[in-house]
Amino acid sequence: MNNKPYLIEFPKIGESQLGYISVSEKNNLPFIPKRIYWTYFTPEDVVRGNHAHYELEQILVAVAGKIEVDIVLQNEDSFHFVLDSPNFGLFIPKMAWRTMKYSHNSVQMCIASMEYDENDYIRNYDQFKR
Ligand code: TYD
Repeated sequence: MNNKPYLIEFPKIGESQLGYISVSEKNNLPFIPKRIYWTYFTPEDVVRGNHAHYELEQILVAVAGKIEVDIVLQNEDSFHFVLDSPNFGLFIPKMAWRTMKYSHNSVQMCIASMEYDENDYIRNYDQFKR
């Protein structure tokens, strides 16, 4: 299961008159988080990502707006996800080439399994395919 991307549904506690809270206890995640970062104000004509990771696993959440994520695995399986609900996360396994496009109002939270390490990045697609 954990070598393919998949959606995780988080609890959505509340009601429309009051608003909602989503929560994830660590036992409900596929890894224990080591880092959280968020990206925002990405212009709509920019494609982010364009890399894979040797070891890092991630969960992307569109806490606001809409994010379109394309993923290609080394065996050429490809996936397209639209994240537009704050109570859903996208698990991205290691060795997955990803690109992301953002709506102007979107905020992407990334829950990461490892600390930042530039040596864990594969930024060249041909190198990734090898
Ligand atoms: P990158 O992971 O390439 O962003 P994206 O996948 O959203 O396109 O990171 C962009 C830049 O930010 C890059 O120069 C590395 C830096 N960065 C850090 O310093 N620490 C971090 O935790 C992250 C995720 C990125």
